[in-house]
Amino acid sequence: MDKITTLKLAEFKRQGRKITALTAYDAPFARMMEDAGVDLILVGDSVGMAMHGKADTLSVTMDEMVLHARAVASAVKRPMVVVDMPFMSFQVSKEKAVENAGRLIKETGAQAVKLEGGEKLSATIRAIADAGIPVMGHVGLTPQSVHQLGGYRVQGKQPEAARRLIADAKAVEKAGAFSLVLEAVPAELGAVVTASLHIPTIGIGAGAGCDGQILVMHDMFGISDGPHPRFVKTYVNMREQAVNAFKEYVDEVRDARFPAAEHCYHARDGTPLSVVAKKR
Ligand code: KIV
Repeated sequence: MDKITTLKLAEFKRQGRKITALTAYDAPFARMMEDAGVDLILVGDSVGMAMHGKADTLSVTMDEMVLHARAVASAVKRPMVVVDMPFMSFQVSKEKAVENAGRLIKETGAQAVKLEGGEKLSATIRAIADAGIPVMGHVGLTPQSVHQLGGYRVQGKQPEAARRLIADAKAVEKAGAFSLVLEAVPAELGAVVTASLHIPTIGIGAGAGCDGQILVMHDMFGISDGPHPRFVKTYVNMREQAVNAFKEYVDEVRDARFPAAEHCYHARDGTPLSVVAKKR
């Protein structure tokens, strides 16, 4: 079972073999993804919304990313594990960005970091890559800029915005990124960006023309708070299944149907009872 590396992902692009990616934040789900053949696991800062009940990703800390990424990276062998650099861990200075990227790699065992932003982040991407850390870029809808973007909106719909996005994608590649997440852009633009780059694109709401796809696990399981964007496909409604299971448990406990005899430990020959009986 060969570890997925940056070289392998580049080879997949050349071969036209689609890259499969998902987000995970803990060991059990990471292991299940490995069993299912997922190539790349992103420990996204979406953890803030998916697991910590936050309204956006902005409050996610380095410590939280380290905790979740360590659990994921310890659990899997084959998939590449990429960790998101949280808001304000890479924007202040190149030096701070390299330091934080280094911490994510050293303390988690992940293979790469991801950061949001285009041309303006070129020097930062270059500095991290020069430190020997593979960097995944992220353009289009960049959730850490939600307030600047005026909400979670599709990007690159107008010709000028599309041109800027293509320039951003090329700048990220030139700066040394090994792959690029394209989020919430028209499918046509996703295909154009993919064709104009040598590095693989991983789309989320960017159409079927990307080199790979990624979804937030909690979205595909229907367990994140809705409403969901159009690009989300609910593969299984785990929320409904879990709520039904919890209801059944509540009913059974209230009606004294759980625990049943097979869920109880039993004393040999009724020993404790005879001891109590003798003492009386
Ligand atoms: O944080 C995240 O989960 C992401 C994906 C949406 C790509 O950045």
